Amino acid sequence: MTLIYRPDPSSVKEKTTPVYGVGDSTLTAAGGEEGVKCLVDSFYHYMDTLPEAADIRAMHASDLTESREKLTTFLIGWMGGPSRYSEKYGSINIPGAHRHLSIGIAEKEAWLLCMQKALDDQDYEEVFKRYVMVQLSFPAEMCRNRT
Ligand code: HEM
Repeated sequence: MTLIYRPDPSSVKEKTTPVYGVGDSTLTAAGGEEGVKCLVDSFYHYMDTLPEAADIRAMHASDLTESREKLTTFLIGWMGGPSRYSEKYGSINIPGAHRHLSIGIAEKEAWLLCMQKALDDQDYEEVFKRYVMVQLSFPAEMCRNRT
């Protein structure tokens, strides 16, 4: 006899998982443009201080002001908000913008570690932090140009 599991419809709860990636819902969950700025400040703080990030920190200029500004404006658009990066700097192709750098697995993991730590510092839902990490792991992998 085959037993088929049929849940009692009254036990199926309404889906409450937040939806990200639609319109500017991701930017809103990140705290708007000001929230993204805080996230990026924290990201570069970790890049500046974590021993695991020393090699990727050394790839950047000593003054991180422009890097902060570029990543903030890029992420605002990437999260569904206004295209601040292209308004200011023109179009960008993320893997292309990193082609002159030597990025392997360790460098990619260091970058994602800084982002995870920065997300953990924000007042974000756990599910939102996971969403951002999964989504950023794709462009991070695309930036990798060696093992
Ligand atoms: C995978 C590891 C990554 C490393 C090691 C890395 C490293 C760097 C470095 C060193 C720069 C400065 C380049 C220069 O001054 O010439 C840079 C620029 C930038 N990165 Fe990354 N990055 C990584 C991944 C990402 C990802 C996943 C994103 C976005 C989703 C991103 C967004 C940017 C942006 C927007 C710029 C500014 C580009 C420009 O206007 O020239 N990066 N990155």
